[in-house]
Amino acid sequence: MTFLKGRRILLGVTGSIAAYKSAFLTRELVKAGAEVRVIMTRGAMDFITPLTLATLSKNPVLSELIEDRETGVWTNHVDLALWADAMIIAPVSAHSLGKMVTGQSDNLLLLTFLSAKCPVFFAPSMDLDMFKHGSTRENIEKMQSFGHILIPVGKGELASGLEGEGRMAEPEEIVQQIHDYFEARLPLRGKKALVTAGPTYERIDPVRFIGNFSSGKMGYAIAHELAERGAEVTLVSGPTSLKVEHQRIRTIHVESAQDMLKACQQEFSVAEWVIMSAAVADYRPVEQSEQKIKKTDAQPVVHLALNPDILKWMGEHKSPAQTLVGFALETNNALENARKKLKAKNLDLIVLNTLQDDQSGFGYDTNKVTLITADNKTLPLELKTKTEVARDLIDYLQQSAQ
Ligand code: CTP
Repeated sequence: MTFLKGRRILLGVTGSIAAYKSAFLTRELVKAGAEVRVIMTRGAMDFITPLTLATLSKNPVLSELIEDRETGVWTNHVDLALWADAMIIAPVSAHSLGKMVTGQSDNLLLLTFLSAKCPVFFAPSMDLDMFKHGSTRENIEKMQSFGHILIPVGKGELASGLEGEGRMAEPEEIVQQIHDYFEARLPLRGKKALVTAGPTYERIDPVRFIGNFSSGKMGYAIAHELAERGAEVTLVSGPTSLKVEHQRIRTIHVESAQDMLKACQQEFSVAEWVIMSAAVADYRPVEQSEQKIKKTDAQPVVHLALNPDILKWMGEHKSPAQTLVGFALETNNALENARKKLKAKNLDLIVLNTLQDDQSGFGYDTNKVTLITADNKTLPLELKTKTEVARDLIDYLQQSAQ
């Protein structure tokens, strides 16, 4: 249920026996990571107490437009409606359904419903014959014609003892439907991305290596942000202490630049976006000792060989449908060097890090970067958290892809 995490859900509960299920619904939504605020009608309170829903939602339940007549304290239904990412009215009774269709607004729930700009889901609940009635059918159709989303009723034994249609959908089904709604609207749904992160370690012997201070935080933040927006991400990671768990991130762990090249070559052709944020070691020891090298009086010499340039290989093999992003870490002539790198490696965009800020670069949670594009646009970003830099970078790629 990753798409409900952090979502703001307004749950409207009206007077129907299925109001007891709204406790389970609230619980499921909170468990899925949503922030839930509940509005109840007076009728709903005959079936379930506000205290139950306030406790489960971890927020006070709202029901009155005017909370205190003497002091004039009232609940701003417009703000409430704007706060929500989605409104769910479950259960919606035949009575409330009728009022919604005709635009009546004599309680807080109806006022908020009329003010809502977010998607509104409604889950009818009533007895068999009420559900069958032509007016109910018409009201449901009208609600749909206004753009609201029906959560269909279930079939089976009803509270009255009758058998048939009219039972409110089960809380798990409602949560699933809302989750699927958000998932289907993810902007990068189905896009395949390849991201590299972290350092590479180039072995000298079984216990020593040449490496660098890259923490991998930038690349992991990029992979996570892409996945959150719906992309299918392959993360090729050098050695780091970071972990990422996301259903759309597949992590391939590698150690050296040569391992990273091999993994990237296997994954490259299917990736539409490739973001190469790893700090690949430029050199590796020519020889790797099988045994631990013993200390001697002689001055040791490690001969180095040039590592393959993975990004350059990608630039040479990329198709017009692929977008290739590199990183550059420069300490002098930064812009000029980054532009040269972008050209030499045939990139669409390069993220320049100049390490000019105290809180920027290896190991920090923040970064200060400049985005430079192949058509020579330069976009300096403020010092931000790496998560925010990842968001800005992906926002930029998304805009450019439109
Ligand atoms: N890169 C790579 N393979 C290498 C070296 C670097 O794929 N062997 C990638 C990095 O992941 C980064 C970009 O190339 O996206 C720039 O890396 P950088 O080390 O700044 O550039 P170099 O080409 O190595 O140039 P220099 O070290 O001279 O600055």
